[in-house]
Amino acid sequence: MNIRRATIDDLPGMQNCNLMNLPENYQLKYYLYHALSWPQLSYVAEDHRGRIIGYVLAKMEEDAKDVPHGHITSLSVMRSYRRLGVAEKLMRQSQQAMVDCFNAQYLSLHVRKSNRAALTLYRDALKFEVHDIESKYYADGEDAYAMRCNLSSLK
Ligand code: ACO
Repeated sequence: MNIRRATIDDLPGMQNCNLMNLPENYQLKYYLYHALSWPQLSYVAEDHRGRIIGYVLAKMEEDAKDVPHGHITSLSVMRSYRRLGVAEKLMRQSQQAMVDCFNAQYLSLHVRKSNRAALTLYRDALKFEVHDIESKYYADGEDAYAMRCNLSSLK
């Protein structure tokens, strides 16, 4: 298994992985927007045949009133490749690139309140904290935790 920066050619494989693993799905043009705007920030994990088995889709937030900060749009790993440290590695690569390329001060993301695996990954392994609760954030009415992670230790 190999982890590397995502390229334009990877976008259909990332979209496929997303469709297999999450109910939050996006048109291909939204993946393209990430890849063209912040080509440094999204990463893929591939198997020995070059198939995408995990991805992190990431961007910088464009809020001029705040310090530079990154955002994880989507993260997922195929079922048979879980608990091998793939998601943690994808996240750490993207975090470091946000700091190195854009001087990001912190990283934000949303996660379902019921998503125990992702919550444990973010809170325990990656030291995110709950910043806010966004009521009915998801299309099915579930609340989201808005989480943040300080990136100053990566400078
Ligand atoms: N239960 C409890 N803790 C978990 C679990 C789990 N099922 N999965 C991961 N963790 C925690 C553990 O602390 C783990 O360390 P350990 O294995 O040493 O105990 C740590 O996270 C690192 O786990 P990884 O192996 O790196 O995680 P994995 O590659 O399995 O991917 C992910 C985790 C992305 C949440 C995966 O389960 C998945 O794809 N789920 C479906 C899609 C999803 O929920 N994506 C996140 C949505 S939020 C968003 O996209 C911003």
